[in-house]
Amino acid sequence: MTSTKRILIVGSGGREHALCWKLAHDSSRPELFIAPGNAGTAQLGMNLAIGAEDLDALEAWAVEHRPELTVIGPEAPLCGGLADRLQAHGLLVFGPGQAAARLEGSKHFAKEVMIAAGVPTAASATFSALEPALTYVRSQPPPLVVKADGLAAGKGVVICQSTPEAEAAVFDMLDQGTFGEAGRQVVIEEFLVGEEASILALVDGSRSVLLDSSQDHKRVGEGDTGLNTGGMGAYSPAPVVTADLWPIIQKDIIDATVSELRRRGIDFRGVLYAGLMIHDGKPKVLEFNCRFGDPECQAILIRWEGDLLPALEACAQGDLRPDLVRWKPQPSVCVVMTAPGYPGEYPKGAVIRGLEEAGQLPDTEVFHAGTGYDGDDIVTSGGRVLGITARGETLKQALTTAYTAVDLVQFDGAYVRRDIGWRAIGT
Ligand code: AMP
Ligand code: GLY
Repeated sequence: MTSTKRILIVGSGGREHALCWKLAHDSSRPELFIAPGNAGTAQLGMNLAIGAEDLDALEAWAVEHRPELTVIGPEAPLCGGLADRLQAHGLLVFGPGQAAARLEGSKHFAKEVMIAAGVPTAASATFSALEPALTYVRSQPPPLVVKADGLAAGKGVVICQSTPEAEAAVFDMLDQGTFGEAGRQVVIEEFLVGEEASILALVDGSRSVLLDSSQDHKRVGEGDTGLNTGGMGAYSPAPVVTADLWPIIQKDIIDATVSELRRRGIDFRGVLYAGLMIHDGKPKVLEFNCRFGDPECQAILIRWEGDLLPALEACAQGDLRPDLVRWKPQPSVCVVMTAPGYPGEYPKGAVIRGLEEAGQLPDTEVFHAGTGYDGDDIVTSGGRVLGITARGETLKQALTTAYTAVDLVQFDGAYVRRDIGWRAIGT
Protein backbone atom coordinates (compact mmCIF):
# COMPACT_ATOMS: atom_id res chain seq x y z
CA MET A 1 0.00 0.00 0.00
CA THR A 2 1.33 3.45 -0.88
CA SER A 3 0.62 6.29 1.53
CA THR A 4 -1.09 9.50 0.46
CA LYS A 5 1.36 12.16 -0.70
CA ARG A 6 1.27 15.57 0.92
CA ILE A 7 1.86 18.60 -1.26
CA LEU A 8 2.53 22.15 -0.14
CA ILE A 9 1.37 24.81 -2.61
CA VAL A 10 2.66 28.33 -2.02
CA GLY A 11 0.48 31.25 -3.15
CA SER A 12 -3.07 32.56 -3.03
CA GLY A 13 -4.14 33.40 -6.57
CA GLY A 14 -6.14 31.87 -9.38
CA ARG A 15 -3.01 30.05 -10.54
CA GLU A 16 -2.70 28.31 -7.19
CA HIS A 17 -6.40 27.37 -7.08
CA ALA A 18 -6.08 25.89 -10.58
CA LEU A 19 -2.99 23.91 -9.51
CA CYS A 20 -4.88 22.64 -6.44
CA TRP A 21 -7.92 21.72 -8.51
CA LYS A 22 -5.82 19.76 -10.99
CA LEU A 23 -3.74 18.03 -8.30
CA ALA A 24 -6.84 17.22 -6.22
CA HIS A 25 -8.21 15.28 -9.21
CA ASP A 26 -4.97 13.37 -9.85
CA SER A 27 -5.38 9.59 -9.62
CA SER A 28 -3.10 9.46 -6.54
CA ARG A 29 -5.45 11.90 -4.70
CA PRO A 30 -2.73 13.81 -2.84
CA GLU A 31 -3.42 15.77 0.34
CA LEU A 32 -3.01 19.51 -0.26
CA PHE A 33 -1.74 22.26 2.03
CA ILE A 34 -1.87 25.81 0.71
CA ALA A 35 0.02 28.82 2.10
CA PRO A 36 -1.98 31.00 2.38
CA GLY A 37 -4.58 29.97 -0.26
CA ASN A 38 -8.04 31.47 -0.79
CA ALA A 39 -11.68 30.43 -0.34
CA GLY A 40 -11.40 28.15 -3.40
CA THR A 41 -8.31 26.26 -2.24
CA ALA A 42 -9.92 25.84 1.22
CA GLN A 43 -12.46 23.53 -0.44
CA LEU A 44 -9.70 21.26 -1.80
CA GLY A 45 -7.18 21.14 1.03
CA MET A 46 -6.02 22.88 4.17
CA ASN A 47 -5.17 26.57 4.00
CA LEU A 48 -2.23 27.52 6.24
CA ALA A 49 -2.02 30.96 7.85
CA ILE A 50 1.40 31.60 6.33
CA GLY A 51 1.98 34.31 3.72
CA ALA A 52 3.66 33.37 0.43
CA GLU A 53 6.52 35.75 1.23
CA ASP A 54 7.09 34.58 4.81
CA LEU A 55 10.03 32.37 3.87
CA ASP A 56 11.03 31.62 7.48
CA ALA A 57 7.56 30.34 8.39
CA LEU A 58 7.26 28.37 5.13
CA GLU A 59 10.64 26.74 5.74
CA ALA A 60 9.72 25.93 9.34
CA TRP A 61 6.40 24.36 8.28
CA ALA A 62 8.04 22.31 5.53
CA VAL A 63 10.82 21.07 7.80
CA GLU A 64 8.26 19.99 10.40
CA HIS A 65 5.77 18.37 8.02
CA ARG A 66 8.11 17.21 5.22
CA PRO A 67 5.69 17.37 2.24
CA GLU A 68 6.58 14.98 -0.59
CA LEU A 69 6.54 17.97 -2.98
CA THR A 70 6.35 21.76 -2.67
CA VAL A 71 4.99 23.74 -5.62
CA ILE A 72 5.89 27.44 -5.48
CA GLY A 73 3.44 29.61 -7.44
CA PRO A 74 4.48 33.31 -7.27
CA GLU A 75 7.75 34.98 -8.25
CA ALA A 76 8.52 36.66 -4.90
CA PRO A 77 9.28 33.48 -2.90
CA LEU A 78 11.11 32.02 -5.92
CA CYS A 79 13.31 35.11 -6.29
CA GLY A 80 13.73 35.13 -2.50
CA GLY A 81 15.30 31.67 -2.57
CA LEU A 82 12.54 29.52 -1.02
CA ALA A 83 13.34 26.58 -3.32
CA ASP A 84 17.02 26.59 -2.25
CA ARG A 85 16.05 26.70 1.42
CA LEU A 86 13.72 23.71 1.13
CA GLN A 87 16.14 21.72 -1.05
CA ALA A 88 18.83 22.25 1.59
CA HIS A 89 16.60 20.17 3.90
CA GLY A 90 16.39 17.38 1.30
CA LEU A 91 12.86 18.36 0.22
CA LEU A 92 11.59 18.02 -3.36
CA VAL A 93 10.58 21.37 -4.90
CA PHE A 94 8.87 22.39 -8.13
CA GLY A 95 10.17 25.89 -8.85
CA PRO A 96 13.64 27.27 -9.57
CA GLY A 97 16.20 28.36 -7.03
CA GLN A 98 17.20 31.97 -6.53
CA ALA A 99 19.97 31.99 -9.15
CA ALA A 100 17.67 30.66 -11.89
CA ALA A 101 14.72 32.84 -10.79
CA ARG A 102 16.86 35.89 -11.64
CA LEU A 103 15.62 35.35 -15.22
CA GLU A 104 12.46 37.04 -13.91
CA GLY A 105 13.94 38.97 -10.98
CA SER A 106 16.41 40.97 -13.09
CA LYS A 107 15.56 42.06 -16.61
CA HIS A 108 19.23 42.92 -17.16
CA PHE A 109 20.29 39.39 -16.18
CA ALA A 110 17.65 37.94 -18.52
CA LYS A 111 18.99 40.09 -21.38
CA GLU A 112 22.56 39.09 -20.65
CA VAL A 113 21.62 35.38 -20.71
CA MET A 114 19.61 35.85 -23.92
CA ILE A 115 22.46 37.63 -25.67
CA ALA A 116 24.97 34.96 -24.59
CA ALA A 117 22.57 32.22 -25.75
CA GLY A 118 21.69 33.89 -29.06
CA VAL A 119 17.99 34.10 -28.10
CA PRO A 120 16.07 36.56 -30.30
CA THR A 121 15.03 39.61 -28.27
CA ALA A 122 14.69 43.40 -28.57
CA ALA A 123 17.91 45.46 -28.70
CA SER A 124 18.53 47.09 -25.33
CA ALA A 125 20.95 48.82 -22.99
CA THR A 126 21.13 48.87 -19.18
CA PHE A 127 21.88 51.91 -16.99
CA SER A 128 22.05 52.73 -13.31
CA ALA A 129 23.23 56.36 -13.72
CA LEU A 130 20.83 59.05 -14.94
CA GLU A 131 22.96 61.06 -17.40
CA PRO A 132 24.19 58.16 -19.58
CA ALA A 133 20.61 56.79 -19.63
CA LEU A 134 19.25 60.16 -20.85
CA THR A 135 22.00 60.43 -23.47
CA TYR A 136 21.08 56.95 -24.72
CA VAL A 137 17.36 57.77 -24.84
CA ARG A 138 18.10 60.87 -26.94
CA SER A 139 20.18 58.81 -29.36
CA GLN A 140 17.44 56.23 -30.06
CA PRO A 141 14.37 56.67 -32.27
CA PRO A 142 11.08 56.44 -30.28
CA PRO A 143 8.97 54.57 -29.33
CA LEU A 144 11.12 53.14 -26.55
CA VAL A 145 10.33 50.81 -23.67
CA VAL A 146 11.77 51.68 -20.25
CA LYS A 147 11.82 48.81 -17.75
CA ALA A 148 12.68 48.71 -14.07
CA ASP A 149 15.27 45.94 -13.71
CA GLY A 150 13.71 44.25 -10.67
CA LEU A 151 10.30 42.90 -9.64
CA ALA A 152 7.65 45.62 -9.76
CA ALA A 153 4.39 43.62 -9.65
CA GLY A 154 3.87 44.00 -13.41
CA LYS A 155 4.03 47.80 -13.21
CA GLY A 156 7.69 48.40 -14.02
CA VAL A 157 7.35 48.61 -17.82
CA VAL A 158 6.67 51.99 -19.44
CA ILE A 159 5.97 52.19 -23.17
CA CYS A 160 7.14 55.63 -24.31
CA GLN A 161 5.87 57.01 -27.61
CA SER A 162 8.18 60.05 -27.58
CA THR A 163 11.69 60.98 -26.43
CA PRO A 164 10.39 63.30 -23.64
CA GLU A 165 8.19 60.47 -22.31
CA ALA A 166 11.18 58.14 -22.24
CA GLU A 167 13.30 60.82 -20.53
CA ALA A 168 10.57 61.21 -17.89
CA ALA A 169 10.32 57.45 -17.31
CA VAL A 170 14.10 57.16 -16.88
CA PHE A 171 14.13 60.19 -14.56
CA ASP A 172 11.29 58.78 -12.45
CA MET A 173 13.01 55.45 -11.96
CA LEU A 174 16.66 56.49 -11.59
CA ASP A 175 16.29 59.89 -9.90
CA GLN A 176 12.93 59.77 -8.11
CA GLY A 177 13.08 56.10 -7.14
CA THR A 178 9.49 55.43 -8.31
CA PHE A 179 9.97 51.67 -8.16
CA GLY A 180 12.36 51.69 -5.21
CA GLU A 181 15.19 49.17 -5.43
CA ALA A 182 13.59 47.51 -8.48
CA GLY A 183 14.12 50.70 -10.51
CA ARG A 184 17.68 51.54 -9.40
CA GLN A 185 18.74 49.98 -12.69
CA VAL A 186 16.77 50.34 -15.93
CA VAL A 187 16.71 48.41 -19.17
CA ILE A 188 15.88 50.60 -22.17
CA GLU A 189 14.57 48.59 -25.04
CA GLU A 190 13.58 48.99 -28.67
CA PHE A 191 9.77 48.85 -29.15
CA LEU A 192 8.65 45.67 -30.90
CA VAL A 193 5.52 45.42 -33.00
CA GLY A 194 3.52 42.22 -33.49
CA GLU A 195 1.19 39.95 -31.55
CA GLU A 196 2.05 38.55 -28.12
CA ALA A 197 1.82 34.95 -26.93
CA SER A 198 2.89 33.08 -23.82
CA ILE A 199 4.89 29.88 -24.05
CA LEU A 200 5.40 27.98 -20.83
CA ALA A 201 7.89 25.13 -20.67
CA LEU A 202 8.42 22.51 -17.99
CA VAL A 203 12.16 22.28 -17.34
CA ASP A 204 13.99 19.65 -15.25
CA GLY A 205 17.42 21.26 -15.15
CA SER A 206 18.43 20.12 -18.63
CA ARG A 207 15.40 18.85 -20.57
CA SER A 208 12.30 20.81 -21.42
CA VAL A 209 8.76 20.06 -22.61
CA LEU A 210 6.75 22.95 -24.03
CA LEU A 211 3.18 23.35 -22.81
CA ASP A 212 0.51 24.38 -25.30
CA SER A 213 0.40 28.07 -26.22
CA SER A 214 -1.77 30.75 -24.66
CA GLN A 215 -2.36 34.48 -24.86
CA ASP A 216 -3.24 36.74 -21.97
CA HIS A 217 -4.88 40.17 -21.88
CA LYS A 218 -2.92 42.50 -19.65
CA ARG A 219 -4.81 45.77 -20.18
CA VAL A 220 -7.89 46.54 -18.12
CA GLY A 221 -10.01 47.85 -21.01
CA GLU A 222 -11.62 46.21 -24.02
CA GLY A 223 -9.58 46.28 -27.22
CA ASP A 224 -6.42 46.09 -25.05
CA THR A 225 -6.65 49.66 -23.77
CA GLY A 226 -6.11 51.31 -20.39
CA LEU A 227 -3.86 50.41 -17.49
CA ASN A 228 -1.81 47.24 -17.21
CA THR A 229 -3.17 44.64 -14.79
CA GLY A 230 -2.09 41.26 -13.48
CA GLY A 231 -4.16 39.75 -16.33
CA MET A 232 -7.82 40.12 -17.30
CA GLY A 233 -8.16 36.82 -19.14
CA ALA A 234 -6.39 34.24 -21.25
CA TYR A 235 -7.13 31.58 -23.82
CA SER A 236 -5.35 28.49 -25.09
CA PRO A 237 -4.14 27.61 -27.65
CA ALA A 238 -3.09 30.89 -29.29
CA PRO A 239 -3.40 30.53 -33.11
CA VAL A 240 -0.64 33.14 -33.58
CA VAL A 241 1.79 30.39 -32.53
CA THR A 242 1.76 28.52 -35.83
CA ALA A 243 3.17 25.00 -36.27
CA ASP A 244 6.41 26.23 -37.85
CA LEU A 245 7.23 28.33 -34.76
CA TRP A 246 7.36 25.42 -32.28
CA PRO A 247 10.80 24.04 -33.25
CA ILE A 248 12.25 27.58 -33.18
CA ILE A 249 10.78 28.28 -29.74
CA GLN A 250 11.97 24.93 -28.41
CA LYS A 251 15.54 25.09 -29.76
CA ASP A 252 16.43 28.76 -30.11
CA ILE A 253 14.55 30.10 -27.09
CA ILE A 254 13.85 27.57 -24.33
CA ASP A 255 16.67 25.04 -24.83
CA ALA A 256 19.22 27.76 -25.66
CA THR A 257 18.34 29.56 -22.41
CA VAL A 258 18.44 26.41 -20.28
CA SER A 259 21.84 25.45 -21.80
CA GLU A 260 23.27 28.89 -21.14
CA LEU A 261 22.10 28.68 -17.51
CA ARG A 262 23.70 25.23 -17.19
CA ARG A 263 26.93 26.60 -18.63
CA ARG A 264 26.88 29.07 -15.74
CA GLY A 265 26.21 26.28 -13.25
CA ILE A 266 22.56 27.30 -12.77
CA ASP A 267 19.95 24.56 -12.54
CA PHE A 268 16.40 25.58 -13.60
CA ARG A 269 13.65 23.22 -12.41
CA GLY A 270 10.10 24.43 -12.80
CA VAL A 271 8.23 26.51 -15.38
CA LEU A 272 10.19 28.74 -17.72
CA TYR A 273 7.69 31.21 -19.19
CA ALA A 274 8.65 33.11 -22.31
CA GLY A 275 6.54 36.16 -23.14
CA LEU A 276 6.91 36.41 -26.93
CA MET A 277 6.26 39.07 -29.54
CA ILE A 278 5.58 37.43 -32.91
CA HIS A 279 6.03 39.47 -36.06
CA ASP A 280 6.36 38.29 -39.67
CA GLY A 281 6.40 34.70 -38.39
CA LYS A 282 9.39 35.31 -36.11
CA PRO A 283 9.29 35.22 -32.30
CA LYS A 284 11.28 37.52 -30.02
CA VAL A 285 11.36 37.26 -26.23
CA LEU A 286 9.83 40.24 -24.36
CA GLU A 287 10.37 38.77 -20.91
CA PHE A 288 11.02 35.59 -19.00
CA ASN A 289 9.08 34.54 -15.93
CA CYS A 290 10.15 31.72 -13.65
CA ARG A 291 6.66 30.37 -12.89
CA PHE A 292 3.24 29.57 -14.33
CA GLY A 293 1.54 32.68 -15.73
CA ASP A 294 -1.67 33.87 -14.13
CA PRO A 295 -4.28 33.62 -15.78
CA GLU A 296 -2.53 31.49 -18.43
CA CYS A 297 -2.20 28.66 -15.90
CA GLN A 298 -5.98 28.43 -15.46
CA ALA A 299 -6.60 28.25 -19.23
CA ILE A 300 -3.82 25.69 -19.69
CA LEU A 301 -4.61 23.37 -16.79
CA ILE A 302 -8.27 22.93 -17.79
CA ARG A 303 -6.87 21.46 -21.03
CA TRP A 304 -4.33 19.16 -19.31
CA GLU A 305 -5.10 15.48 -19.98
CA GLY A 306 -4.46 13.01 -17.17
CA ASP A 307 -2.36 13.48 -14.05
CA LEU A 308 -0.32 16.60 -13.32
CA LEU A 309 1.68 15.44 -10.28
CA PRO A 310 3.97 13.00 -12.17
CA ALA A 311 5.08 15.82 -14.51
CA LEU A 312 5.79 18.23 -11.63
CA GLU A 313 7.67 15.53 -9.70
CA ALA A 314 9.69 14.59 -12.78
CA CYS A 315 10.77 18.22 -13.23
CA ALA A 316 11.80 18.46 -9.60
CA GLN A 317 13.69 15.13 -9.79
CA GLY A 318 15.38 15.81 -13.13
CA ASP A 319 13.71 13.05 -15.13
CA LEU A 320 11.13 14.86 -17.26
CA ARG A 321 9.72 12.99 -20.29
CA PRO A 322 7.50 14.34 -23.10
CA ASP A 323 4.84 11.63 -22.57
CA LEU A 324 4.04 13.12 -19.14
CA VAL A 325 2.44 16.11 -20.89
CA ARG A 326 -0.77 15.54 -22.87
CA TRP A 327 -3.58 17.86 -23.96
CA LYS A 328 -7.30 17.83 -24.46
CA PRO A 329 -7.75 19.21 -27.97
CA GLN A 330 -10.63 21.54 -27.02
CA PRO A 331 -9.66 25.20 -26.65
CA SER A 332 -10.20 27.02 -23.39
CA VAL A 333 -10.63 30.49 -21.98
CA CYS A 334 -10.29 32.11 -18.55
CA VAL A 335 -12.27 35.33 -17.96
CA VAL A 336 -11.14 37.27 -14.89
CA MET A 337 -13.77 39.02 -12.75
CA THR A 338 -12.31 41.94 -10.82
CA ALA A 339 -13.36 44.24 -8.02
CA PRO A 340 -14.52 47.73 -9.14
CA GLY A 341 -11.61 50.15 -9.54
CA TYR A 342 -8.96 47.48 -10.11
CA PRO A 343 -6.02 47.88 -10.90
CA GLY A 344 -6.36 51.07 -8.79
CA GLU A 345 -7.99 51.21 -5.35
CA TYR A 346 -10.87 48.79 -4.85
CA PRO A 347 -13.21 47.73 -2.02
CA LYS A 348 -12.98 44.36 -0.28
CA GLY A 349 -15.51 42.27 1.61
CA ALA A 350 -18.33 42.16 -0.99
CA VAL A 351 -20.40 38.97 -0.73
CA ILE A 352 -20.11 36.76 -3.83
CA ARG A 353 -23.19 34.83 -4.96
CA GLY A 354 -23.88 32.29 -7.67
CA LEU A 355 -20.56 30.41 -7.46
CA GLU A 356 -22.14 26.98 -7.29
CA GLU A 357 -24.53 27.57 -10.19
CA ALA A 358 -21.67 28.85 -12.35
CA GLY A 359 -19.44 25.88 -11.52
CA GLN A 360 -22.17 23.43 -12.57
CA LEU A 361 -22.02 24.44 -16.23
CA PRO A 362 -20.34 21.78 -18.38
CA ASP A 363 -16.54 21.94 -18.71
CA THR A 364 -16.43 25.01 -16.46
CA GLU A 365 -14.34 25.71 -13.38
CA VAL A 366 -14.64 28.79 -11.20
CA PHE A 367 -11.13 29.48 -9.96
CA HIS A 368 -10.87 31.80 -6.98
CA ALA A 369 -8.16 34.46 -6.65
CA GLY A 370 -8.94 37.33 -4.24
CA THR A 371 -11.58 35.57 -2.14
CA GLY A 372 -11.94 34.71 1.52
CA TYR A 373 -14.53 33.71 4.09
CA ASP A 374 -16.64 36.04 6.23
CA GLY A 375 -18.50 33.55 8.41
CA ASP A 376 -20.19 31.24 5.92
CA ASP A 377 -20.14 33.83 3.13
CA ILE A 378 -17.48 33.90 0.44
CA VAL A 379 -16.37 37.51 0.01
CA THR A 380 -13.96 39.48 -2.17
CA SER A 381 -10.50 40.06 -0.71
CA GLY A 382 -8.42 41.21 -3.68
CA GLY A 383 -8.48 43.00 -7.04
CA ARG A 384 -8.65 39.95 -9.26
CA VAL A 385 -11.47 38.01 -7.62
CA LEU A 386 -12.30 35.02 -9.83
CA GLY A 387 -11.09 33.37 -13.04
CA ILE A 388 -14.06 31.76 -14.76
CA THR A 389 -12.54 29.06 -16.96
CA ALA A 390 -14.25 26.94 -19.61
CA ARG A 391 -13.47 24.51 -22.42
CA GLY A 392 -15.45 24.16 -25.63
CA GLU A 393 -15.42 22.42 -29.00
CA THR A 394 -14.39 25.80 -30.39
CA LEU A 395 -13.01 28.91 -28.72
CA LYS A 396 -16.34 30.62 -29.42
CA GLN A 397 -18.18 27.88 -27.56
CA ALA A 398 -15.75 28.09 -24.64
CA LEU A 399 -16.34 31.84 -24.53
CA THR A 400 -20.12 31.43 -24.59
CA THR A 401 -19.93 29.00 -21.66
CA ALA A 402 -17.49 31.17 -19.71
CA TYR A 403 -19.59 34.33 -20.11
CA THR A 404 -22.77 32.39 -19.21
CA ALA A 405 -20.99 31.41 -15.99
CA VAL A 406 -19.79 34.99 -15.45
CA ASP A 407 -23.39 36.19 -15.66
CA LEU A 408 -24.44 33.74 -12.93
CA VAL A 409 -21.94 35.20 -10.46
CA GLN A 410 -22.70 38.44 -8.64
CA PHE A 411 -20.84 40.74 -6.33
CA ASP A 412 -21.02 44.53 -5.97
CA GLY A 413 -19.33 46.32 -8.87
CA ALA A 414 -17.96 43.16 -10.53
CA TYR A 415 -16.08 43.98 -13.74
CA VAL A 416 -15.07 41.75 -16.67
CA ARG A 417 -13.71 42.41 -20.12
CA ARG A 418 -16.27 41.11 -22.61
CA ASP A 419 -13.75 40.65 -25.42
CA ILE A 420 -11.39 37.98 -24.13
CA GLY A 421 -10.04 35.98 -27.09
CA TRP A 422 -10.86 38.69 -29.63
CA ARG A 423 -7.64 38.29 -31.62
CA ALA A 424 -8.28 34.57 -32.09
CA ILE A 425 -11.91 34.84 -33.16
CA GLY A 426 -11.35 37.82 -35.40
CA THR A 427 -13.87 40.23 -33.91
P1 AMP B 1 7.03 42.66 -19.59
O1 AMP B 1 6.67 42.74 -18.13
O2 AMP B 1 8.47 42.85 -19.89
O3 AMP B 1 6.41 41.50 -20.30
O4 AMP B 1 6.24 43.88 -20.25
C1 AMP B 1 4.85 44.04 -20.06
C2 AMP B 1 4.19 44.32 -21.38
O5 AMP B 1 4.79 45.45 -21.98
C3 AMP B 1 4.36 43.18 -22.39
O6 AMP B 1 3.40 42.18 -22.25
C4 AMP B 1 4.20 43.96 -23.68
O7 AMP B 1 2.83 44.19 -23.96
C5 AMP B 1 4.85 45.27 -23.38
N1 AMP B 1 6.26 45.29 -23.81
C6 AMP B 1 7.34 44.93 -23.07
N2 AMP B 1 8.47 45.07 -23.79
C7 AMP B 1 8.11 45.50 -25.01
C8 AMP B 1 8.81 45.82 -26.21
N3 AMP B 1 10.15 45.74 -26.28
N4 AMP B 1 8.10 46.23 -27.27
C9 AMP B 1 6.75 46.32 -27.21
N5 AMP B 1 6.03 46.05 -26.12
C10 AMP B 1 6.68 45.64 -25.02
N1 GLY C 1 -0.04 36.71 -17.18
C1 GLY C 1 1.25 37.26 -17.06
C2 GLY C 1 2.01 36.83 -15.91
O1 GLY C 1 1.64 35.94 -15.18
O2 GLY C 1 3.07 37.41 -15.69
